[in-house]
Amino acid sequence: MNRLSRSVQAPRVLNIEDLRHRAKRRLPRVVFDYIDGGAEDESTLRANCRAFEAVTLRPRCAVATPACDLRTTVLGTSVSMPLILAPVGSCRLMFPHGEEAAAHAAGEAGIICTLSTLSGCRLEDVATASGGAVWYQLYLVGGRDCALAGIDRARKAGFSALVVTIDTPVAGFRERDLRNGAKELLTGKLGPMLPFASQLLVRPRWLAAFLGDGGLMRFENVVILGKGPMLYADVTAALEQSVVTWDDLKWIRQAWNGPIVIKGIHTAEDARRAVDTGAEALVVSNHGGRQLAGVAPTLRVLPEVVSAVGDRIEVLLDGGIRRGSDVVKALCLGARAVMTGRAYAYGLGAAGGPGVSRAIEILHADLMRTLKLLGCPSIADLDRTYVDAPREWFSK
Ligand SMILES: Cc1cc2nc3c(=O)[nH]c(=O)nc-3n(C[C@H](O)[C@H](O)[C@H](O)COP(=O)(O)O)c2cc1C
Repeated sequence: MNRLSRSVQAPRVLNIEDLRHRAKRRLPRVVFDYIDGGAEDESTLRANCRAFEAVTLRPRCAVATPACDLRTTVLGTSVSMPLILAPVGSCRLMFPHGEEAAAHAAGEAGIICTLSTLSGCRLEDVATASGGAVWYQLYLVGGRDCALAGIDRARKAGFSALVVTIDTPVAGFRERDLRNGAKELLTGKLGPMLPFASQLLVRPRWLAAFLGDGGLMRFENVVILGKGPMLYADVTAALEQSVVTWDDLKWIRQAWNGPIVIKGIHTAEDARRAVDTGAEALVVSNHGGRQLAGVAPTLRVLPEVVSAVGDRIEVLLDGGIRRGSDVVKALCLGARAVMTGRAYAYGLGAAGGPGVSRAIEILHADLMRTLKLLGCPSIADLDRTYVDAPREWFSK
């Protein structure tokens, strides 16, 4: 076991919050806050987590459940547990070859990893690193031709589903990024960078790894004709010109003949539209509280979405998953599986691949223990009878 693996073992790291603390110690503030922060006053980010406290568990005691079965299928793929790594952009800032490290950890654990369009590693390398099932998340940055080229590469590389994120017509107002000079640091020009550079210098280990990995990453999967991979500094403007509409889903559907997952559903109305596009799955997601501030926490809107779509589409949820019991609660309220973003991004920032593996291991152990304590033999047996949730959540 190497130094990084040791640094995230028990008793130092027992839960996701411990990984968060270790990520904070290793990463420059600007990178840690990029992971940890949310939009505006971050109330939605906090609400996502707090919503799980409003749901309480109803155990069946004195029931023997020697080996609970955590396996399930998502879009026909068998997985070791109902947890999927959500798309997290710019993982290469967190750790060298970050996206490959995360995909490898997911593959080893038998779960699906979703690669963001805004990744610093080539999608082909990420698929190879995983060795398991991978999904590709699509933004239309760089325009339609660029997206079509990305879709084609993803298909050839063996990605099995396309995740289309629909909640990012513009980047959310992330105040921490602005205060930390994220924009200035991306210019690569000494003058604007100087007032913010000390954050990087006080993390020499991270800085050495970052420079050893080639310095500021480019977006290897957004190849602009005649220019090459999109530069980091261009991403904010590119996002603003790349809103995905329901109309776009038509040509995306034609270009991709595998399953489509629509990510960023907040309401029953949009959930029905997702069904109408012929998507195979949707993700109830508010981007981890990073986009529109003031929307409802995802767990709160899950019952509304589930009741609107029934079993016409697989319903996934993300936002605020920090414990195995959170996964259980989402499944009891009708999610087929959950995605997690920050839980593994903290692990990546703390210790690279071993940190991601530790995050997955923590959630796996939590999940197993929670099922046993609930007296529930398998993931497939979880349903509403195992939880109490506020009645008003079911009024729509
Ligand atoms: C640092 C970071 C970067 C993200 N980048 C993307 C992205 O590129 N594409 C996307 O669809 N969602 C992105 N997300 C949102 C996640 O996919 C997911 O919806 C969110 O993290 C779930 O909330 P959680 O962090 O509480 O698990 C990002 C989230 C974080 C924390």
